Amino acid sequence: MNTAPSLQALPDNLINLADHEACARSRLDSNAWAYFYGGAADEFSLAANRQAWDALTLWPRVLRTLAGGHTRVHLLGRELACPLLVAPMAFQRMAHADGELAMAYASAALGAGMVFSTQASMPLEQVAQAVLGMQGRGPLWFQLYLQHDRGFTRQLVARAEAAGYEALVLTVDAPAHGARDRERRARFRLPEGIGAINLQGMAPPPSVPLEHGQSALFDGLLHQAPTWEDVQWLQSQTRLPVLLKGILHPADAVQAARLGVAGLIVSNHGGRTLDTAPATAIALRHVVHALRSAGMDVPVLVDGGIRRGTDVLKAMALGASAVLIGRPAIWGLANAGAAGVAHVLRLLRDELEIAMALSGCARLSDASPALLDPACA
Ligand SMILES: Cc1cc2nc3c(=O)[nH]c(=O)nc-3n(C[C@H](O)[C@H](O)[C@H](O)COP(=O)(O)O)c2cc1C
Repeated sequence: MNTAPSLQALPDNLINLADHEACARSRLDSNAWAYFYGGAADEFSLAANRQAWDALTLWPRVLRTLAGGHTRVHLLGRELACPLLVAPMAFQRMAHADGELAMAYASAALGAGMVFSTQASMPLEQVAQAVLGMQGRGPLWFQLYLQHDRGFTRQLVARAEAAGYEALVLTVDAPAHGARDRERRARFRLPEGIGAINLQGMAPPPSVPLEHGQSALFDGLLHQAPTWEDVQWLQSQTRLPVLLKGILHPADAVQAARLGVAGLIVSNHGGRTLDTAPATAIALRHVVHALRSAGMDVPVLVDGGIRRGTDVLKAMALGASAVLIGRPAIWGLANAGAAGVAHVLRLLRDELEIAMALSGCARLSDASPALLDPACA
């Protein structure tokens, strides 16, 4: 069994994540590009994610003692070298033959976390086995899409537990597929030999014949969609901490916290599900405020459009415990396999350190709302 990804040289002149994106665009075919890059419908939320981070300004403090500073944070009982995790993303072998193995390996080498997707294109055991023993690695979590077959879902959770995954991330913002115009225009198809390998063996969903006037969505697929009861069911089925991914509304955040979830991930699925859903930087502020007002102390993570170290610092100032990086990690993977992902994460971490130093933050706990708005000081 393959335990280490191949070594590959980085293309020249990649000095930031936008360079990685441009380079990946020239390497991926139009099918893969439409899938990895695209958002839903008019891609308003995809664009809004970026714009919202850009719209926040940093108000630097000067002359503070910075020596001995660091990017370490605490999350779910562990110390992390930096507040970065790679977001769960399906079918990574479509970007590079080393797929999720390279992604996990590079994340671990950089002390960043990795969330492995239910729709990964490599066996969950193979990836865990390759990285769990690596020193200084970040957390390894398993992202779960509840399957129509709850027995199969339970077995999948048991496999993830047995393989050594340390938390479950239940994605709750995709009961249906977003309207992916870009994918449809490109006539997107999974290439031969790439698929959701960890879902193999599951019985197909029961096909209930639709009567005239019935909706394939509401009278079909959505009978299987997860509900709040399923969150409790999942918590009862596992000893692992359960986080919810895809929370935007502050009322949902409070409801989830009341169920005792281990953490929340503010996310609009990278703009791939409900178009015109709010940018995550904006939702994060509301979610953190609602939880604090309700006296609830739950770790809140965020993803969507994070492309610069300054974006990470802004997220931390808004109250995030850590951030997840989606597409840029795919661009790194496409450009140079594990070395490319490691480069993306290294660039982001270096930029974060620079942003901290220039803002007067020796530690990430120094980043508070006053860094974004002097009226909060
Ligand atoms: C190609 C692709 C595949 C994705 N697959 C999943 C998935 O399997 N499960 C999931 O919870 N989120 C999935 N997401 C959403 C990401 O986890 C994450 O929320 C989003 O990519 C963050 O935004 P960013 O790409 O702008 O950083 C996917 C995103 C992309 C771009």
